[in-house]
Amino acid sequence: MELNIDELNFKYQAALNVLDTQLKILIKDYEISTKKRCVEHYNNRIKDVDSAIDKLKRKKYDVSVESLNEHIRDMVGVRLVCPYVDDVYEIVDLIRNSNLLQICEEEDYIKNPKESGYTSYHMNVMVPICLHDDVEFVHAEIQIRTLLMDAWAALEHDLIYKNNGKNISLEDRESLKSYAKSLRRLDNKMLTLKKTK
Ligand code: GTP
Ligand code: MG
Repeated sequence: MELNIDELNFKYQAALNVLDTQLKILIKDYEISTKKRCVEHYNNRIKDVDSAIDKLKRKKYDVSVESLNEHIRDMVGVRLVCPYVDDVYEIVDLIRNSNLLQICEEEDYIKNPKESGYTSYHMNVMVPICLHDDVEFVHAEIQIRTLLMDAWAALEHDLIYKNNGKNISLEDRESLKSYAKSLRRLDNKMLTLKKTK
């Protein structure tokens, strides 16, 4: 059966709503029972079709609705921004142990930052959505990181990432990378302060 972009969008929106609500309930319940605040704020988005097309082209895939459905695994995205770096791993464990979602892949860019300096924890999951005649699984990406990692990613995204590195000198790239390293150090210092509080 031929895929239709409106149908696909409906599924992405449904998966985003399910994922966002389930994560908020899971985390709120955890915060109440532990009397801790592990997530400072949430963001979510559905990747716009133009960015998805750019990504298909970048990865040398066909540009079609079928190809988008098959290859773009982060159309649905939720971001959890935590105060401290230990909160990130607590949330990762909470999600892993919840059995809410099928986890397909995890990428720890905190232990192994990307070449750009990007630091974050990623979980690629499948979100079950109930439709009239079936349960379907929709791919989604959960990004979990600290406030400092998030600030760096937002600024770097504005300067470089979405532009594919065009118009930015090697020297500026190296600077951004070293700022990411400084922020990682700062995150660890903040964690030490928290532990001695
Ligand atoms: P892309 O989405 O094209 O990067 O491919 P991918 O899913 O194979 O790669 P990856 O898991 O590394 O990245 C997934 C998401 O992480 C991206 O869509 C961005 O939101 C974020 N990301 C990855 N690398 C960077 C980076 O260098 N800078 C920023 N600001 N964000 C990044
Ligand atoms: Mg990825």
